[in-house]
Amino acid sequence: VAEDGLNGWLRYARLDDCHTKGKLDTIPKTIVTLNATKDSPLETAGTELQTGISGILGLDLAINPGTSEKGTKFVISTADAYKEEYGDLPEGVDLIDDGFYLSTKDADVLIIGSNQRGALYGVFEYLSRLAQADFSKDVYVTNPEVPVRWANQWDNLWANGTHGSIERGYGGVSIFYDGFGHVREDLSRVPLLGRLLSSVRINAIVINNVNADASLFQGTNLDGLQRIADLFRPWGVQIGLSQYFASPQTIGGLDTFDPLDEEVITFWTDLTNEFYRRVPDLAGFVVKANSEGQPGPITYNRTLAEGANLFAKALKPHGGLLMFRAFVYNHLADWEDWHADRANAQVEFFGELDGKFDNNVVVQIKYGPIDFQVREPVSPLFGHLRNTDVAIELQVTQEYLGQQCHLFYLPPLWRSIFDFDMRVDGKQSYVRDIISGKVFNRKRGGYTAVTNVGMNATWLGSHLAMSNLYAFGRLAWEPTLDSVEILEDWTRLTFGLSRGIRDAVTEMSMLSWPAYENYTGNLGIQTLTDILYTHYGPKPASQDNNGWGQWTRANSESIGMDRTCWNGTCNAGQYPDEVAQRFENTETTPDDLMLWFHHVPYSFKLHSGKSVIQHFYDAHYEGAETAATFPDTWEKVRGKLDDERFEHVLHRLKYQAGHSIVWRDAINEFYRNLSGIPDEAGRVRNH
Ligand code: GCU
Repeated sequence: VAEDGLNGWLRYARLDDCHTKGKLDTIPKTIVTLNATKDSPLETAGTELQTGISGILGLDLAINPGTSEKGTKFVISTADAYKEEYGDLPEGVDLIDDGFYLSTKDADVLIIGSNQRGALYGVFEYLSRLAQADFSKDVYVTNPEVPVRWANQWDNLWANGTHGSIERGYGGVSIFYDGFGHVREDLSRVPLLGRLLSSVRINAIVINNVNADASLFQGTNLDGLQRIADLFRPWGVQIGLSQYFASPQTIGGLDTFDPLDEEVITFWTDLTNEFYRRVPDLAGFVVKANSEGQPGPITYNRTLAEGANLFAKALKPHGGLLMFRAFVYNHLADWEDWHADRANAQVEFFGELDGKFDNNVVVQIKYGPIDFQVREPVSPLFGHLRNTDVAIELQVTQEYLGQQCHLFYLPPLWRSIFDFDMRVDGKQSYVRDIISGKVFNRKRGGYTAVTNVGMNATWLGSHLAMSNLYAFGRLAWEPTLDSVEILEDWTRLTFGLSRGIRDAVTEMSMLSWPAYENYTGNLGIQTLTDILYTHYGPKPASQDNNGWGQWTRANSESIGMDRTCWNGTCNAGQYPDEVAQRFENTETTPDDLMLWFHHVPYSFKLHSGKSVIQHFYDAHYEGAETAATFPDTWEKVRGKLDDERFEHVLHRLKYQAGHSIVWRDAINEFYRNLSGIPDEAGRVRNH
């Protein structure tokens, strides 16, 4: 157990007597783990339960003391081992991989996993209840919505002076690599992270940047990978690796990386076999190909599916998965072309490849068609892949969303995507049901998130940002969970049971998305940040006139991307018919996506009755006003938690309040100058 910041939501703080009165006698006296071999998740489950109960209740429990009478023990086991020892589980207990059965109704508490990992998840669940003073008698089964619940780290082997050693990471340097091309000697952060991930049922972590550097797979670094995997394994967390498509050339000494070339195939087969020799439970690979300058199969006129299948075939005998990223687009797009549109790229590249991927390929799709913006419609590709397994890619790291210097609680944004009804074939088809495989009758689906924790004492650079990591795991398991309920659990576990802290965190967090959207980019125009380099701070002028395709097409008269089929890029037409028709017309497009789909004059009247330009002015003031309330809201909890965390959070919130004014004035002035239309309210920039 690490110092508090590193424990995140696993603090196991002692409950007050008022919560435990009369309850301690109901807690079993010993822990029995069945078949717990050394360093197995089941062994971890036993010691974690022991640690948790000692912290939360102050009770010292022995593990496997030899004899334990009926009615005095915790039983932690897999279903198979339980059956052998005690007989069948109750009727109706139906477990799938990683699921578990928890029974607190009798004197013996049963925590039975479908597998060892499931049993460990069950222990975390039990401790989470206990830490929140929930001693109720209960019995239930819980199973995951999808088998793929992966964190993605964008860690680099080499430190880069400007960006540190994690691409788009805001929590310090890598916990895996030393910045000089090697796996760290001291990997003591790895099991601490494994513990956090496991507690929210994330079952794998990709440990290197999607912009991959193949030198990770040479020399002593291979030993390093093995060490990392060995440290995650007791927590039931597998590792995955990002692969560089041109590796056969750069580290293999071949003069080609053509995916159909025999020598290239042999190169990947051999390398994959070597990985599995060292890491037999390797989860698989992630590949970013033909995207943002990365090499890929298209260089050799091969399809993206042929490129993906190259890896899939090497992984197949080992049971590994190939997560193939759909983030493929031309970053040198023609700004002069009214019909060019980066948002169309995924369907253009992948739509016709449906059914051409091997069955251990999962296409990993960012939630929106562009790039983790404050407001995007769901990627239309989710409606096209009927014969391909898919995973959604989210970001816990707040690349465009304030980089952890701004509070932004992400679950409401994620839920708006999961809960969108695509109306495939005119029928109800929520995106979460497409991901899980229910809509197209697929067996495998996934939730992935770019997490980018680092060496910072808070992991992510901000205490409050940890609610997003916590929530990602919870939602990947059960995507219909309520954002507030998740947050309340997290707050109790992180800051204790104070109602005041819970109210403050909930109030600020639930206002954070609308506030950020208001002051950084509304009506679907995207986050109006510096898109060329930092992705931080206001810079609306950087969106247009370049090849990156995050265009607003703002001029002195009008603004917005025309994505209609009648006059624009026809991105609206990539959605299933009912949705396409809705987005084709301004009358049926919601205000918050109006400028995503339509190019309109600044005077255009929204459904709200306001003009676009006045909405901009008002929203930016509203957003900044909301952010200005955050430090005051937090002040109310002064003294209810330790000073260190109180001050750290306060510092960030004050900064956010100030920076939101910078945003407000920069954006409002930019569009006032461009349009020449004054703010009806007569507000001018305050010098
Ligand atoms: C964004 C991000 C890059 C990253 C890329 C990706 O464009 O800014 O740093 O490499 O996404 O997801 O591959």
